[in-house]
Amino acid sequence: MTNKEVLSKAFELIGNYQVNINSGKEKVLNYHKPDELEKKLDLKIPVESKDYENLFSDIEEYLKFSVKTSHKQFLNQLYSSENLPAIIGEFVTAVTNTSMYTYEVAPMATLIEKELIKKMCEIAGFNDGGGIFATGGSNANMLAMMSARNKRLPDVKKSGMMSAQTLAVFVSDQSHYSFDTAANILGIGSDNVYKIKSDINGRMLIKDLHKSIETSLRKGQSPFFIAATAGTTMLGAFDPLDEIAVIAEKYNIWMHVDGSFGGSIILSNKYKHLFKGLKQADSFTWNPHKLMNVPLIASVLLVKEKNRLLKNLTDLDTDYIYHDNEAQEYNLGKQSIQCGRRVDALKVWLAWRFYGDEGYEKRINRMFELANYAKRKVELSDKLYLLANPQSLSICFIYKTELGKDNDALNLTIRENLMKKGLSLVNYGYLNGKVAIRLVISNPEINEKDLDEFFENFIKAGNELEHQKINVKATQAEKYLIIE
Ligand SMILES: Cc1ncc(COP(=O)(O)O)c(C=O)c1O
Repeated sequence: MTNKEVLSKAFELIGNYQVNINSGKEKVLNYHKPDELEKKLDLKIPVESKDYENLFSDIEEYLKFSVKTSHKQFLNQLYSSENLPAIIGEFVTAVTNTSMYTYEVAPMATLIEKELIKKMCEIAGFNDGGGIFATGGSNANMLAMMSARNKRLPDVKKSGMMSAQTLAVFVSDQSHYSFDTAANILGIGSDNVYKIKSDINGRMLIKDLHKSIETSLRKGQSPFFIAATAGTTMLGAFDPLDEIAVIAEKYNIWMHVDGSFGGSIILSNKYKHLFKGLKQADSFTWNPHKLMNVPLIASVLLVKEKNRLLKNLTDLDTDYIYHDNEAQEYNLGKQSIQCGRRVDALKVWLAWRFYGDEGYEKRINRMFELANYAKRKVELSDKLYLLANPQSLSICFIYKTELGKDNDALNLTIRENLMKKGLSLVNYGYLNGKVAIRLVISNPEINEKDLDEFFENFIKAGNELEHQKINVKATQAEKYLIIE
């Protein structure tokens, strides 16, 4: 086979996969227990070479067992949907296989990344800002914390944290776990991450923030980093950025906004009021791989101070890679903690050029319409109970039983039954220690009828389980019978 024939065949397989998902022929997943799946598959690396036919059958097998994240019943994660221009961008990135460290090896990619950073900074209100594509929201949050640490302790790059004053971080109790990880990596320690209380809808309570900063000062710590969240992982809540900005300024603390989930909502004129106060922040994480539906990974850290990222890094003798030439200013690797770095900017750029600002605004607004519809469905149902008033695209609810059964166990089992039957994939988490089913609208291509179908199946499974004579604790949820 010629290279062209191989690629055509591969594209045909991938194309069929997408078409089948969209035509409703496929279930959202074909669930198997790990040991069952392991038995079904041949994953061993062979000693002898194989031919392209074998490659194609491996691809088919992989597609068959993958979770169909662009399926209309995939309501599980903060990403989903298909975005063809971005998917094609991903192929082009692979075909042109280069690294983002120097202009020399990635000329157009460098200019594209710079253009996107400029545009995203303008949108965020960072008029003289900078930024870099990172390997995910968690790592972008870590880079933000590192930037704040190195600003507070400029010598830390060389002297390390051993003799430094204890630093203190402030995040809400609804924030993402990546801040604990970042505090661990950066030598700050996760015990020094204060978890500020939030209200019933998941927004950070300013009074408690204030109190915790004072406590930390009394302990002789140095409060240096507040992370507000624009779209919390469970409830999609937006912390009051403008009020947090006032506190950050008063205590001279770096203010970060984690928009890993909700950052792209800023593209909607209707909803950008949720970001009031962002322009006073020092940094902002924005993940196009979530609500802009670009394939993972596409994640950006923006900083208000243009050269902050460069200042973070230790000057190393890296002239084997960064040559002294006219393109020096364009070598983005000098602002990154990575050496080799994928061209993630291309897929974002291709998709954004395709949809335009207006197209993306429509997609965001449509997701809000669908989220409002889902919220109303829960409110109107006498079986379901809304756990919080959603500010954005995540609806947390439970099936409420009146027959004295364990609500946690019941809800976990409903969810699991739907998953095992391939009817839908929806996630759950805990709010105040109790199970909450989290329905996320991250796919603007779904319809109201898809949500009707989801709720119908959910309530039906709940009804059936409710009337079975089994009563177990949440930890034993798996023991519920799976409805076949
Ligand atoms: C609020 C928030 N921050 C950070 C992250 C981490 O982002 P990533 O998965 O890109 O590392 C998530 C992921 O869900 C999130 O919801």
